[in-house]
Amino acid sequence: MSNKIYSYGKQNIDVADIEAVVEVLKSDWLTQGPAVSRFEEALAEKFGAKYVSVVSNGTAALHLTALALGWQPGDVVLTTPMTFLASANCILYAGATPDFVDIDESTYTISPEKLEQKLKELQAEGKNVKAVVAVDYAGQPCDWQRLRELADTYGFQLVNDNCHALGAEYRNDLQYAVKYADVVVQSFHPVKHITTGEGGAVLTNNGEIDKSIKILRTHGMTKDENILESNDGPWYYEMHRLGFNYRITDFQCALGVTQLNKLDRFVKRRREIAGFYNETFGGDERFIIPSVAANVKHAYHLYPLQINFDNVKTDKKELFAKLRERNIYGQVHYIPVHLQPYYRKKFGFGKGDFPVAEKFYEREISIPMYPSLTVEDLSYITKMFKELVR
Ligand SMILES: Cc1ncc(COP(=O)(O)O)c(C=O)c1O
Repeated sequence: MSNKIYSYGKQNIDVADIEAVVEVLKSDWLTQGPAVSRFEEALAEKFGAKYVSVVSNGTAALHLTALALGWQPGDVVLTTPMTFLASANCILYAGATPDFVDIDESTYTISPEKLEQKLKELQAEGKNVKAVVAVDYAGQPCDWQRLRELADTYGFQLVNDNCHALGAEYRNDLQYAVKYADVVVQSFHPVKHITTGEGGAVLTNNGEIDKSIKILRTHGMTKDENILESNDGPWYYEMHRLGFNYRITDFQCALGVTQLNKLDRFVKRRREIAGFYNETFGGDERFIIPSVAANVKHAYHLYPLQINFDNVKTDKKELFAKLRERNIYGQVHYIPVHLQPYYRKKFGFGKGDFPVAEKFYEREISIPMYPSLTVEDLSYITKMFKELVR
C-alpha cells in the first residue's frame, strides 16, 4: 500500500514558479499590470497566434468566445457530448441552442462523418449551424483538416476547445490550433498541462474577434481614443458593450510564463508515462488503451483507459471504491453532457442519442497522469489495476 495519494491530474510547481509569483507580489501591479501582456506574448509566440487574451478561466474564455462570435437566440451551435460541461454551457450563455454530434470510435473526438450528416439533416429542416465547438479530447487533436473543410463548405464558425491539448501536434505542427479554428480556447486549471491556479486564454488570428474579447473581459469598457464617442479628459472611459470582469491577475500570469517555459518538458514526460501504460495494459483483453490517430502527437492531458467490464467480474463502482482504498483517485471523463438532467429536461436529450459517447463513458477511467509520477508510482498504479480488474 502506498502512502502517497494519486489523483488523475496534478500541478507541477517549482522554485522558479514560486519566485516569479513572489516577485509580482512585491511589485506595484497585482492586476492589470505588465505580467498580463508578458503571458499573452509568450502564448502568442508558443502557439503561433496573432492575438491572445488571457482571462480568469477557460469557461470565461468560452463565454467570451460565444459573445465575440455573435451567437444569439435562434442560432444552433454543435459540440461533442464527450467534454466538460463548459464546452456546451457557453452556447447557453449566449442564448443559442446547443446540439451534439457523436464521437469517433477510435479517437473519441467529434466525428466529421456524423457532423456532416447532422449538418445535412439540419439544412433539410431549414436550420443553419452557426458554429461548432470541437474538443481536442484528452490531448488528441481532432481531424482538423476535415473540420475546416466542413466549416468552409457549410459556412459555420469553428472553435477549438483546446483545454486538453496544449503541446499536442497535428500534422507535425504544435501551432496547429489557430491555423484551423477561428478561435482557440485554453484553460490553466491545475490539472491541465500548465497552470495559473485558475486561468484561461482565447487565441485567434482575427483582430476583430480579439478586440471584442478584450473589451468584454473588462466590463465592455474602453479608453481607446479612436473609438470613444466623446472624451471628457484623461479619466474618461465609455461602456460600449455589456461585459464582465473576467480578468486574470498579474501574479497568475507570472506563473503562467514560467509554467509555459516547461510545457515541452511536461508533455515529454506525459508521453513517457503514456508509453509505460500502453505497454502494461496493451494486449491485455481486459483493457483498451487510447488509440492515437496517424497524423497526431497526443499531449495526454488525460490517459483514458477503457475497461471491458463485460468480460470481468468487477464493475466500475466497485473498482472505484477499491482504488480509493488504495489511494488511487481516478476520475471519469466524461458523463456525456446530453445525459445531464439539465440538458435532458430542457432539450429532451436521452439515453441512446449518442451511443458511441455513452459506451465510452461506461468503460472509461482516467488514471493518474501528471509529470511527477515516478517509475515506482506507475508500477504501483498498474499493479493495482491488474489486481483489481478481475
Ligand atoms: C474541455 C474543457 N473545456 C473547458 C474547460 C473549462 O476550463 P476552466 O476549468 O478553466 O473553466 C475545461 C476544464 O476542465 C475542459 O476540460
